[in-house]
Amino acid sequence: MENFHDLLIRRHSIRKYTDEPIAPDDVKTILEAGLMAPSSKRSMPWEFVLVEQREMLAALSKCKDFGALPLAGCSLAVIVCVDPERSEAWLEDASIAAVLMQLQAEDLGLGSCWVQLRGRFTADGQSAEDYIRSIISIPDNLQIVCAITLGHKNEERKPFDLEKIKWEKVHIVK
Ligand SMILES: Cc1cc2nc3c(=O)[nH]c(=O)nc-3n(C[C@H](O)[C@H](O)[C@H](O)COP(=O)(O)O)c2cc1C
Repeated sequence: MENFHDLLIRRHSIRKYTDEPIAPDDVKTILEAGLMAPSSKRSMPWEFVLVEQREMLAALSKCKDFGALPLAGCSLAVIVCVDPERSEAWLEDASIAAVLMQLQAEDLGLGSCWVQLRGRFTADGQSAEDYIRSIISIPDNLQIVCAITLGHKNEERKPFDLEKIKWEKVHIVK
């Protein structure tokens, strides 16, 4: 691994992917990152649903009217679900696992994008969650938070410019 800070500077959402599949070992490494994520009281309330069939990914990309296109072209989508009964901090738990998978993907040289599903709607006004459940069987006790799309990068993104970091968001209590 390169320097972790350099990885953060380089990381950006990648929404365009090549057709090259992700090596199985890399998929395993990415899932391990999610499964090792910290969670409140070690509740591990997440469940990760993997989709790689092209037609299913194309159908999933219609789960909301804007922002779901990365699903259509990715090699693999990890749908991050969570059982809210298992942790009062379920949203934080799920989000941390999702981001760790993104960072692991970046470290492997792969691109990723968070596609928000919770609280989103199709063009017809159906909840993205219900729409996804009509395509994939997901147990009722699980909430669907987001999909992490993954694949080999097919777009260039400029690294962060540290000169543009918003230090005004940091508040020092004196
Ligand atoms: C909670 C959350 C929801 C997001 N939802 C979407 C989404 O639905 N579609 C999408 O293309 N990107 C989505 N993103 C990616 C953001 O647009 C992106 O992280 C932000 O614009 C910063 O750009 P960067 O990741 O390239 O640095 C989401 C990111 C987060 C953290």
